[in-house]
Amino acid sequence: MILRLPKNLVRKGLYIEAVECPSHEFARRRFMVETQEDLNAIRMSSAVDILVSQKKSQIDVLALLKQAPPQYHRQANPADPQMLEIKGALSDAVLSMHRGMSEAAAGRLDMSQIADAAASARQAVEAAPDLFVQVTRLKAKDKASYMHSISVAGLMTEMAARLELDDDLIDEIGRAGILHDLGKLLIPNAILNKPGKLNAAEMRMMRSHPEIGYRHMKKLGGVSDLILDVCRLHHEALDGSGYPLGLKDEQIGIAVRICTVCDVFDALTSVRSYKGAWSASDALTWMYDRPNLFDRKLVLRLSSMLN
Ligand SMILES: [Fe+2]
Repeated sequence: MILRLPKNLVRKGLYIEAVECPSHEFARRRFMVETQEDLNAIRMSSAVDILVSQKKSQIDVLALLKQAPPQYHRQANPADPQMLEIKGALSDAVLSMHRGMSEAAAGRLDMSQIADAAASARQAVEAAPDLFVQVTRLKAKDKASYMHSISVAGLMTEMAARLELDDDLIDEIGRAGILHDLGKLLIPNAILNKPGKLNAAEMRMMRSHPEIGYRHMKKLGGVSDLILDVCRLHHEALDGSGYPLGLKDEQIGIAVRICTVCDVFDALTSVRSYKGAWSASDALTWMYDRPNLFDRKLVLRLSSMLN
């Protein structure tokens, strides 16, 4: 379990996942605090919190957590009602998504199960978006791809709700989130899960997933234009540097923009084979600093959702 602690509780023997600074002044991640210099560097940083791995630390993190103010406690309390609700809704979402997608590659996509998965994702995020992000960032490896889509769908619906979009549209945006990476089902696992760097051909294949997913769903029929757009265009960027079409600015609609921001945020804050998890504030800062790629208003909206 990765736990958040106030930085004044930093001790030797803690394994640091990230020091949550508003800027990138503290670049070191994933290390054991071993020396007085490590302690000083963390204490002198502008960070408020540190993220530590309970498993990899050499001291009792839960005992240390007891010294933290009350708002830090619920993350470690499996009986916290909001935590239980989020976890329950997320397992419902995984189950529905599994049912809905189990034969998707063969051409059978059960949209009612996809809608159930999106509704459960919405239920999971509504009560406490910050806690939702904490839970979904720790994805079990076998469930990682489903959980990524569920996490993105949850964040998308919450953002759509905060933007006061119509309820039907919010629901459709949730389904779009569940289905945005459908094309990855059709990419060989050897490429999807390759631990090292992809070669040029593999990268091309990987980058074809939006178009593959779009064509697959279009062939299946009965999928709305919004869902098709989100699937095909979620890797576009506002300055035209994205793929597959290189669209720009107003050519990229609101649902696609919401997906892009939530997708990248979830990717950055999750552990992947090639990187550790970034803190939410680092991910938001990184995205905010790139208005050429992401809609800044939506990055700010996400930030206000999580604070
Ligand atoms: Fe994608």
